Amino acid sequence: MSNKEVTLSIIKPDAVERDLNNEIKEMFKNKGFQIVKEKKIQIEKSEAEKFYKIHETKPFFNDLCTYLSSGPIVVMVLEKENAVLANRQLMGATNPKDAEEGTIRKKYGISIDKNSVHGSDSAENAKIEIDFFFKD
Ligand code: CMP
Repeated sequence: MSNKEVTLSIIKPDAVERDLNNEIKEMFKNKGFQIVKEKKIQIEKSEAEKFYKIHETKPFFNDLCTYLSSGPIVVMVLEKENAVLANRQLMGATNPKDAEEGTIRKKYGISIDKNSVHGSDSAENAKIEIDFFFKD
């Protein structure tokens, strides 16, 4: 049975700053993702705090929000069969040091903070995250 899904992807400031947008988008397209929406924006720290609210009790929360709001990002809605899981596989482990060959974070990630991309971790959160950036 077909399970076409959507997920939210963010190309983070470290990757946008290094002009890696097109390379990363090509990696998605080569894996069969369709980029159905996309925009380049810069968000306020308060918006990053809302977006990452799930992490608010973590010790890295403040740095994470400062970082995500530190420069332009590209937010995208990606569509594919089982998009949430497929995107997580293509991104690789959160820490680029642990990411497998062929993943975005292995190829472009610098550190656990500057790990180049974010992706929704469940279909439920994908809906919330897509609404966060694309609800008009
Ligand atoms: P992301 O998938 O965007 O979700 C939350 C982010 O927090 C994560 O990627 C990392 O970039 C960042 N982060 C920083 N420190 C940690 C940590 N110790 N564990 C998990 N994520 C971390």
